[in-house]
Amino acid sequence: MAIGENRNIVIVGVGSLMSKSLAIWLASQGWNIALVSRSERNLSAIAAEVRQAQNGKGGKVIYRAADAGEPTILRATLDWCAQELGGKLDVLSYNAARVALSSVTELTPDELEQDFKVAAVGTLVAGQWFADGNANIDRIAEGEWPVFLVTGGVLDKEPVPALASLSTVKAASQTLSRVFAQELPDKAHILVGMPLITGRVVSPRESEYSPTFDADHIVRTVFRPFFEDRVGRRGGKAGWTVERVY
Ligand SMILES: NC(=O)c1ccc[n+]([C@@H]2O[C@H](COP(=O)([O-])OP(=O)(O)OC[C@H]3O[C@@H](n4cnc5c(N)ncnc54)[C@H](OP(=O)(O)O)[C@@H]3O)[C@@H](O)[C@H]2O)c1
Repeated sequence: MAIGENRNIVIVGVGSLMSKSLAIWLASQGWNIALVSRSERNLSAIAAEVRQAQNGKGGKVIYRAADAGEPTILRATLDWCAQELGGKLDVLSYNAARVALSSVTELTPDELEQDFKVAAVGTLVAGQWFADGNANIDRIAEGEWPVFLVTGGVLDKEPVPALASLSTVKAASQTLSRVFAQELPDKAHILVGMPLITGRVVSPRESEYSPTFDADHIVRTVFRPFFEDRVGRRGGKAGWTVERVY
């Protein structure tokens, strides 16, 4: 199903896994893409791979190094991305989190606070920024809605002791996403999508790799339906699926 060409997306939290797969797929569809994470070196390499996937379709691929856990920096970065992409965003993907082991008996207050800022405060700031006049609502009459896409899992409902901090902050981030999902369609004409991944996604080079949780496969099966369903919406927001658990 067509997902449109020459649309604008910012992906916040970009690494070698799902975010890169998403960017590569969208580049192949002619989307304009802004990539945001902290490592300029990684961003530069990923942007080069994304450009290679464009297949002659001339979308923009830009990137900016920034810490999404700092609200002022995140807002300024999102402003910069929208300006460079040349307009409002069709999709804002909030994907940043520190995916790392932590034990509840050793986790420090500072670590928990930092993780909370990236996962939860970043989700809040990104969602508010998007709703504050930065989503492209010009095509809603044609059935095409902007989407705030927040990547998550099931740690909010099934916390894992070895991921104590991530489980805790994801509970906050996913609750925020669910509240945004109730408020934004009416208040800002934005739909909210939550791709929720139940397994471990790692690179094919790692021993724990499973093809079921291959990043490209997940983008095709879980992310792609959000992009297909945001267009051709005859019933408006009715019937939109907020959470896709895989
Ligand atoms: N991997 C899994 O097994 C899995 C499973 C379920 C859900 N998820 C969720 O999926 C999302 C991550 O996707 P992924 O694991 O496939 O990784 P990914 O999309 O390849 O990369 C995520 C990137 O987020 C960036 N990031 C972390 N902290 C940041 C910050 N403060 N500001 C800006 N960027 C930041 C990191 O890059 P820098 O270090 O360069 O900033 C990291 O490479 C997370 O929300 C995670 O909770 C992952």
